[in-house]
Amino acid sequence: MSDIEDNRKVTVTSALPYVHGVPHLGNFAGSVLPAELYHRYLDLRGVDNEFVCGGDVHGTPLELEALERDENPEDIKDEQVKKVKEAYESLDVDFSIFSDTHSEYNRRQTHEMFEELYCSGLIDEKTQNMAFCLEDERFLPDRYIEGECPNCEGLARGDQCDDCGKLVEPEEIIDPECQICGSREIEFRDTKHLFLDLGEYKDEIREWLKNGDRVPENMENQILHDLEEAEDRSITRDQNWGFEVPVDRVNERIEEENLDVESLDPDTYEEKVLYVWFDAPIGYIGFTRELFEDEGWQEYWNKDAETVYSIGKDNAIFHAVIWPTMLLGASNQEIEYSMPDYEFIQQYLMWEEGAFSKSRDRGVFIDEAVNVYPADYWRFYVTRMLPTDHDTNFSWKDFEAEINNVLNDTVGNFVNRTLSLSEKWFDGEFPLGEPREADTETIHEAENLIEEYRDAFEEKRPQEALEKALELARLGDRYLSEEEPWNNEDRRAETINVSIRIIRGLGATLYPFMPETSKNIEEMLNADIHTSEGVDELTDPLLGGLEPGHELGKREILFEKIDTSGKQEEQENMQKDTEHETQDENRFNQETVSYEQFQEMEIRTGEVEKVEEHPDADRLYVVQVDVGETSLQTCAGLKNHYTKQELEGREVVVLANLEPSELRGKTSECMMLAAESEDGEKVSLLDIEKAHEPGDEVL
Ligand code: 2FM
Ligand code: ZN
Repeated sequence: MSDIEDNRKVTVTSALPYVHGVPHLGNFAGSVLPAELYHRYLDLRGVDNEFVCGGDVHGTPLELEALERDENPEDIKDEQVKKVKEAYESLDVDFSIFSDTHSEYNRRQTHEMFEELYCSGLIDEKTQNMAFCLEDERFLPDRYIEGECPNCEGLARGDQCDDCGKLVEPEEIIDPECQICGSREIEFRDTKHLFLDLGEYKDEIREWLKNGDRVPENMENQILHDLEEAEDRSITRDQNWGFEVPVDRVNERIEEENLDVESLDPDTYEEKVLYVWFDAPIGYIGFTRELFEDEGWQEYWNKDAETVYSIGKDNAIFHAVIWPTMLLGASNQEIEYSMPDYEFIQQYLMWEEGAFSKSRDRGVFIDEAVNVYPADYWRFYVTRMLPTDHDTNFSWKDFEAEINNVLNDTVGNFVNRTLSLSEKWFDGEFPLGEPREADTETIHEAENLIEEYRDAFEEKRPQEALEKALELARLGDRYLSEEEPWNNEDRRAETINVSIRIIRGLGATLYPFMPETSKNIEEMLNADIHTSEGVDELTDPLLGGLEPGHELGKREILFEKIDTSGKQEEQENMQKDTEHETQDENRFNQETVSYEQFQEMEIRTGEVEKVEEHPDADRLYVVQVDVGETSLQTCAGLKNHYTKQELEGREVVVLANLEPSELRGKTSECMMLAAESEDGEKVSLLDIEKAHEPGDEVL
């Protein structure tokens, strides 16, 4: 019997994704999937739980994008949030709510927690020296400045280097550039900000961490180290996009309660907003309030609630040091917040040995993924590859092997064999025979596996739980082959009875991983697996009400074999191209082209007529170029390098007879020539010295 309490209330969260374009499988593996699996497992057990998530929409990237598009961040966020939500839902992710951090509910929750933290003396004002653009006359927080990294000469964005990953002080960035206007007229000026005190609760947090398995074992030491090193963090920014600092309500309370803390200076804080990392985790609570329309949400967040998080390793310090500080500090008589019960912290799922990358367009994006194969195949494979304690590697070949050899040959084959035999011998009815020892033993083994499955999930090891479900299929398959019911007529009824019961168990245990497959099994058995709320489908997993004589449903093929050789080839070509490029960089003058070959290229002058954002690719513009006789379209990876205004009307040099190709649904039929730095970070279009008419030849 199970010893878990079934009356717990659980909140499951996954790191709130930043919203820019469609996420890739690396994002799915990194945060959403473990939460989704655990949530569906709880549903299967009938445990009351909610899975809350939403877009992380404050902060620099969206504000910069809005500036570039000459729009309000608020007006462009919804379309971006929708893209992310729809992508995850196409993988059958079952959010209870997917909101965004700018919601009114989150504003209220953020202001309440800020007020509590401030009035408890956990937030202090300090003066900071920050970059200031003389051109725009404004401060440049976070990613508003970019420049050379003082450690590795790579690209430092705001406070972190993209290349070496180290945190950098903005003052140390070499040759910083304003991301709004491109100016380098930057000086450092003093500005006041509010800081969260990370010293106050170190003991409590250490205690919480050590008292039970809160995080994966391999992360514990790093987190303890981060905790010891933690210094106060600034939680306000000089920018417009974000939640305002609730100056009035804080000052009123200070006055009313005659508190011993300084009031906030309205002139200073009117111009500032709260830092994106302050209101983002609060979103978990804000969204729960939204889900319950402010009634009864506390049961999912008070100290009796169980709260489970799923994040990537780069978010660890925020969730295991800063967030617990906020939860402890903001607790009051009204609510004592639940400290995290468990945090799944993932390493990275890599793409053929390198990082999945949105800006570099590397990896499988969710929209492409569900276009080629069913969501369940991806859910299955990514669970098998979950980067639980080390980075893992996506490969098409491996994906194919898992789908064909494991899903088809083990699970699909067993189910299909059993059900076609039952059609043949028992006219599609659930038979009953005389159990012999082998039958009872098999049932016993199956029960044990399901018990182990449950333990694995309770101990937050979903990958192991999936392995137990697969073991169940292997057990059934082995049993069926050994019993040889085709040669032993007297054993047929019981062998099919036991095999069908194992299929019932499979349908239940596969539910969190492959909900569609589970539903198909449910239909084939014509028996409920997970339909009613509050029922624990694992208490009678092998029968769940199946009675002898029960009429089974229609048999269908569960899975198809797949062939990814085309994808593998595409991948290899891409790799060859990269190798080629590297070789070209090293020995660029050793390979020659003939004059004739060069002449085949029609290089002409052109003028940019129109620039639009590519609807499905973050880095690309769709550009119309006038090349004299005609106008050609190209998809150019210039978004990180030029604004639309800088491009429109500009003279360019164009390869005009490029073979047309499709780039994420848009045709590209020419190429604007540009110089590119080795790391791809600096890109400059070729300039023509004297003004030319569009269409002049470049020789
Ligand atoms: O790293 C990220 O993608 C962040 N947007 C995660 C935020 S998690 C939470 F705290 F909101
Ligand atoms: Zn500027």
